[in-house]
Amino acid sequence: YVIGIDLGTSAVKTILVNETGDICAEASKSFPLFHEKAGWSEQNPDDWVTGTIGALQDMMALTKASPEDIAGISYSGQMHGLVLLDQEHQPLRNAILWNDTRTTKQCEEMTAALGEDLLRITRNRVLEGFTLPKIRWVQQNEPEIFEKASLFLLPKDYLRLKMTGDVHMDYSDAAGTLLLDVAKKEWSSTICEAFDIPLSFCPPLADSTDQTGTLLPDVAAKTGLGEGTPVFAGGADNACGAIGAGILTSGKTMCSIGTSGVILAHEEDASRDFEGKVHFFNHGKKNAFYTMGVTLSAGHSLQWFKETFAENESFDQLLAEVGDIPPGAGGLLYTPYLVGERTPHPDSVIRASFIGMDSAHTRAHFARAVMEGITFSLQESINLFRNEGKTVDTVISIGGGAKNDVWLQMQADIFHAKVVKLQNEQGPAMGAAMIAAAGSGLFHSLEECAAVFIKEGTVFMPNEERVEQYKSLFSIYQTVYDQTKSINE
Ligand code: XUL
Repeated sequence: YVIGIDLGTSAVKTILVNETGDICAEASKSFPLFHEKAGWSEQNPDDWVTGTIGALQDMMALTKASPEDIAGISYSGQMHGLVLLDQEHQPLRNAILWNDTRTTKQCEEMTAALGEDLLRITRNRVLEGFTLPKIRWVQQNEPEIFEKASLFLLPKDYLRLKMTGDVHMDYSDAAGTLLLDVAKKEWSSTICEAFDIPLSFCPPLADSTDQTGTLLPDVAAKTGLGEGTPVFAGGADNACGAIGAGILTSGKTMCSIGTSGVILAHEEDASRDFEGKVHFFNHGKKNAFYTMGVTLSAGHSLQWFKETFAENESFDQLLAEVGDIPPGAGGLLYTPYLVGERTPHPDSVIRASFIGMDSAHTRAHFARAVMEGITFSLQESINLFRNEGKTVDTVISIGGGAKNDVWLQMQADIFHAKVVKLQNEQGPAMGAAMIAAAGSGLFHSLEECAAVFIKEGTVFMPNEERVEQYKSLFSIYQTVYDQTKSINE
């Protein structure tokens, strides 16, 4: 057996997986998010530790698997969150999370000071979500805290530290800090120097499948796991999602629709240059990379729609109505910029819109338009991939967007690609379990593990007539951003 731990933003999920990739037990615990001021999003790092120990305890109580039969544990983590530690490795303040937007001023200053070099070294543009602007914010706004800081970690690395006593960060997560030279796989002294960050502040680096310690005796005692169980570094949630979806070679693209939406593809090396139009990060697979476009309000748009206009309906009821509405939602078009956007418009000010309302439209037309708008936004990322010469013909769809057949067919028609659903999909937690399986030697590689663990299910083929219809709607969709940009400026 192996254990995958997915440290998310609202909850931690743990899964126990056997050698054939079947889930034997799972548990989850949620923890609070703190929004002390507008745009702030924080968590208490010790809530992650308590939650994870609780979930492991619950999960182990559900299984007859003996602790000695567990070959390894690994992690998937919410990306970019800043955990600042003192000399004793105690957190100096709450963690500042990926969805915190307080650092616009720092981002502007950093882009002005080192913009092109930052892009060349980190392969990404400076965005509020990333870690470096958050470090800068603490330097400038809480100097008394920064003075006491000796090290920074990302969320899952702090959790692993408390479970093993070991300090490491893996490359896929380090890539989201804006401090890593992504192609060279080393911390950038140029960036550290430019922003007064001592190199000693950056933790030692590891590959996702590297062993980074063993379970501490007190954690073993509390969880019912074996003392000394091997622990592997793990990866960023998007890298782990990709591993769990089998995105380990070029040729398959991942579409993940959760609160946010992601289009992600594998890169063999760091040679392709998207000039920061999409994210470019190290993969959880050794020496590989991935590109990723992000729609900020994907599932969030549908959630918002349901809460606002169909509060008493279940998601199933709402989505059942959508199947009766023809593609194009009777001329109703939605752009999903409820909280701004990342790809292709890095814009925190833009807001969403409905265009083309007719008195004949019903709630179902609106729900269909919301789903189409989310999918059009994801198509923007696929477009950017294709414009750089990448082939996107097979899309593995995961997350909430893969739970509804109407939406899966819509993805096939809008992406103009074959869309594949997975059997027993577990998202990033499965990627973390696969890292533990490959790291512990149960398999020689992640690819070998993927061949056993990942089981493809229903396939949705694009319908040529609808493909053409959506192509003309997409070109109208693409003009809405410029036309509505000045409303909120
Ligand atoms: C990726 C990102 C999010 C978080 C969510 O850049 O900000 O997907 O990883 O956990």
